Amino acid sequence: MKDELLEIGKKAKEEIEKISNLEGLNNLRVKYLGKRGEITSILRGISNVEPQKRPEIGAIANQIRAEIEELIEKKTKALKEEEKNKRMLEETIDVTLPGKRCAFGNKHPLTKILEEIQSIFLGLGFSVAEGPEVETDYYNFEALNLPKDHPARDMQDTFFINSEVLLRTHTSPVQVRVMEKAYPELPVKIICPGKVYRRDDDATHSPMFTQVEGLAVDKRITFSDLKGTLSKFVQIMFGEKTKVRFRPSFFPFTEPSAEVDISCVICAGKGCRVCGNTGWLEILGAGMVHPKVLEMSGYNPEEAAGFAFGMGVERIAMLKYGIDDLRLFYDNDLRFLKQF
Ligand code: FA5
Ligand code: MG
Repeated sequence: MKDELLEIGKKAKEEIEKISNLEGLNNLRVKYLGKRGEITSILRGISNVEPQKRPEIGAIANQIRAEIEELIEKKTKALKEEEKNKRMLEETIDVTLPGKRCAFGNKHPLTKILEEIQSIFLGLGFSVAEGPEVETDYYNFEALNLPKDHPARDMQDTFFINSEVLLRTHTSPVQVRVMEKAYPELPVKIICPGKVYRRDDDATHSPMFTQVEGLAVDKRITFSDLKGTLSKFVQIMFGEKTKVRFRPSFFPFTEPSAEVDISCVICAGKGCRVCGNTGWLEILGAGMVHPKVLEMSGYNPEEAAGFAFGMGVERIAMLKYGIDDLRLFYDNDLRFLKQF
């Protein structure tokens, strides 16, 4: 039995030496070391060996097994290395092939305009506040001097969640929220960017759009502060030569009120469908904060005064980039969006 084992050891060594692929090597592993391998089957006959000789046979079997294992291990490494080297020689890289370019995204035009607006007002000493898009009837209307059944509510119909909760129609409710929190501090100087919702839908009106609210309250703020601030804004945004028009208007939460138009860049003032043939496009509403609004927010109108404005970001982007339909901003057409 001893001789048989030694013979197996010798045969295994020769075969392992000769083998030249990993699959064949694995077959050899099974053939010699496996559960039904040659060494195991010889050891099955150990009961026929005299008991004193059994330990010696066992030791030899273990040694041969260990030797075969080691040889297989070494050969595996060698074959793997060989295969790798071969592959490296075969697989050459053609450095002249064009690479695959990463597709980079870019900022949405409205985001860019919004950032520009914010940076202008930060430069003028305003800070940025935020408010909820789902708003109560109280903040969206009543605290802005628009009691229930006020006719001016009709111009801002919206999506109601229930009779007291709605999607805000403008960013103006943030005026009240900010003043309530700030009282009795002065001055208050904030802008508030955000989404608003209305029952609107045409080339210059979207059911969801973006506004930036502005509010400045101090002991002695006047209408000329408002005019100066907005004129400065328009000049930085659209250039020194842009024509600006302040038009008397009405908002229940400002007195006096104005709407601000700038000359239509699409038709250079000649009249087109964007400006409704007027040559002007309205970009914002503004005015002096109504005494009732100051009062409802905690401030004494005898001791504090302020101006407020609310601008349409889509309208500003249309004018800045010469876009004639605001719905393009929301179509998600990459051919359009990639241009900014
Ligand atoms: C308001 O929303 C007032 N809250 C503005 C204001 C604030 C007045 C503070 C006084 C003091 P108005 O409804 O006019 O006002 O809207 C303001 C601007 O939002 C408009 O000038 C216009 O640029 C833009 N806008 C209005 N409706 C839409 C719409 N459906 N789609 C896109 N932009 C719109
Ligand atoms: Mg308006």
